Parts: sequence; structure tokens; C-alpha cells
Amino acid sequence: MTPHNHAKAGDYAEAVLLPGDPLRAKWIAETFFKNPKLVNSVRNCLGYTGTWKGKPISVQASGMGQPSLSIYVHELINTYGAKTLIRVGTCGGLNAKVKVRDLVLAQGASTDSSIVKGRFGAFNYAPLADFGLLRAAAEKAEAAGMRYHAGNMLSSDIFYHANGMAGYDTLPQHGVIGVEMEAAALYTLAARLDVRALTICTMTDCLITGEEIDAEQRQTSLRDMVTIALDVAIQA
Ligand code: HPA
Repeated sequence: MTPHNHAKAGDYAEAVLLPGDPLRAKWIAETFFKNPKLVNSVRNCLGYTGTWKGKPISVQASGMGQPSLSIYVHELINTYGAKTLIRVGTCGGLNAKVKVRDLVLAQGASTDSSIVKGRFGAFNYAPLADFGLLRAAAEKAEAAGMRYHAGNMLSSDIFYHANGMAGYDTLPQHGVIGVEMEAAALYTLAARLDVRALTICTMTDCLITGEEIDAEQRQTSLRDMVTIALDVAIQA
């Protein structure tokens, strides 16, 4: 038990999917898991454990942003023994070659967050995905015939910028392809605590072209992305 999670030791599998939205966690558990069991509902930040293809698997909502994700991930690793953490989310597009519905595998995660920057003094730390998980996700996306891009994500602490796209021009010029709000903290924490982490996003809104996904496409894309994430998560 923790202040944010009333699950008991052993309630989570070693592999955990991390959507931001609690109702997406519920949907993932009820749609994909065999014998899903609710293990956490503190603050309605839902967590479930079940099996996928016969292997134990959990899903825990992370909430939005790096502070919220950091709390759940810290506790999943330190209290519940999680070893493989895969964020499944959506991102904005920062490069016209990334189309809505495309998968973005966050190979690295740049950030404006002091959660990461504050720890490294004069150094600019580069938060990275676990290479084995990244490679497995790329191979599975390829085998499934899905469009995907592996590259540098921006994990921003700010969704509504006072100055519109301020700062978002330099980043795409340096190869950053998408923006979300969690990956950099996930990767930094995973590195510090010696576990594996990956972020997989569906691009839902392109900040360059204004293109947006519709509700039906969103559901299909999420289904495809979650299937890949589950297959990667249970892989040894
Ligand atoms: N910004 C930040 N996070 C996001 C976005 C965005 O435009 N789209 C989906 N997640």
C-alpha cells in the first residue's frame, strides 16, 4: 500500500502498461486481459492485473504529466516490483512526415521539465528507451504493416503555451518528431531504478498541418497500438 495505491504486494505483474487516462486503463483491461482484476482505484487512477496470451500483465493509469506519472512509476517499481513499463498514449505531431494514426516510438525524450533537468547540473541528460523494447516494438509494428517512426519525442510540462508554438520550431529542426507529456520522466526514473521502459504513442493532432484524428480512427489506432505494446511487454 502507498498513499496513491491500495494494491497489495504481488497484485501487479512485472510488466505494466501505462496509459494516462484511467478509463483507458479500464478499457485495456476489459478489452484485452483475461480475468482482469481491479487492483487500484485510489483517486480513480485505475490499475488492473490479468493475463495476456497466458502471461501476467498489468495496466495502471499514470494521470497526465511528468509529476503524476513519476508518482505511479516510482511506486510500481519500488513497492510492487515492476520491471517493464510501457507507456501507451497519444502525441502531437511536430514533423509533416508523421501522419495522424502513425505510431511514434519515443527512442529518446527531450524535455523542458525540471524533473529531469534539475538532477543533472551542467549536463544535458538524454533520457532513452530500453533498446530491446524499442527494437521489439519496431519489429512488431513492421510485421503488422503499421506506419511507425522511432525518434526523439518532446515531453513537455506545458500543454497550453502562452505564446502558441514558442520553442516548438527549434526542436523539429533538430529531429524531434512528436510532443507528449510523460516519456522523459519515465525513462529517467527507469534508468535510475534499473528497469526497462518504452513510450509508444499514436499521433492524434499534427501541430504543423493542423490534421486531427477522428473518434473512430482514434479507437482503431489505440487498439492496434495496445496490441503491439502487450506483445512487447510479455516478451522476456
Ligand atoms: N501536446 C502535448 N501532448 C499531447 C498533444 C500535444 O499537442 N497531443 C497529444 N498529446
